[in-house]
Amino acid sequence: MKKLLMHRAAKPVLFIVCLLPFAWLFYAAAADQLGANPAEALIRSLGDWTLRFLCIVLAVTPLRVMTGTPALARFRRMFGLFVAFYALMHLLSYVAFDMEFDATEIAKDIAKRPFILVGSLAGVLLALMAATSFNRAIKTLGAVRWRRLHQSVYVVAALAILHFYWMRAGKHNFAEVAVYGAILASLLGWRVWEAQRKLRLGATRPGRAKVGSAAILQKR
Ligand code: HEM
Repeated sequence: MKKLLMHRAAKPVLFIVCLLPFAWLFYAAAADQLGANPAEALIRSLGDWTLRFLCIVLAVTPLRVMTGTPALARFRRMFGLFVAFYALMHLLSYVAFDMEFDATEIAKDIAKRPFILVGSLAGVLLALMAATSFNRAIKTLGAVRWRRLHQSVYVVAALAILHFYWMRAGKHNFAEVAVYGAILASLLGWRVWEAQRKLRLGATRPGRAKVGSAAILQKR
């Protein structure tokens, strides 16, 4: 398994796999296969894929620790960038196909459906994380500030669920919201549990090295 994950083709192959949902949606839109309301279907599917990639990126560390597979960390940045990519496509398809680039219409829609503002806030945080995902940004910001900024992925998870819940509240349709909410809550719960476990270990093993930029860069 480690050999496969460390193979030099692993990243390009995974990159193509991550692009498949987008390629399929692009094809379906071009071939008029998105049903009676293609704009709505496109926006919703891209929103779903943003949420799925968010679950995937948050699952990397728990999987890495639980299976003892450090090589998994190599793919975290790519998954993170795909969360931002699908969020951007979700936003663009809303602005272009639903609102036809009309700023007044967008303002009116946000006033009527404030859940869009919650999604936008998550989008801004994702854009900040994507813009600082490169090695130079880690060195420029310093490990502590970079980590703090990238920990806002948990805020993004909370905002994404609120965005989804609020959107579905009007339709009293919460089944999928509950599934994604449970997945994200377990992934965040694992982090809290792991942080406490590390704290307890740190208390019994004083003098452990602090993690700096070099340690973050080494995992990539
Ligand atoms: C970047 C700014 C964002 C905007 C402007 C935005 C806008 C929207 C809109 C207008 C809808 C409803 C579409 C409809 O009524 O048919 C929607 C649905 C949705 N959005 Fe967003 N959103 C944003 C960010 C996000 C983010 C960051 C996520 C996830 C991490 C997300 C996940 C979803 C999901 C899951 C749905 C529901 C899809 C479904 O019903 O299956 N959105 N969004």
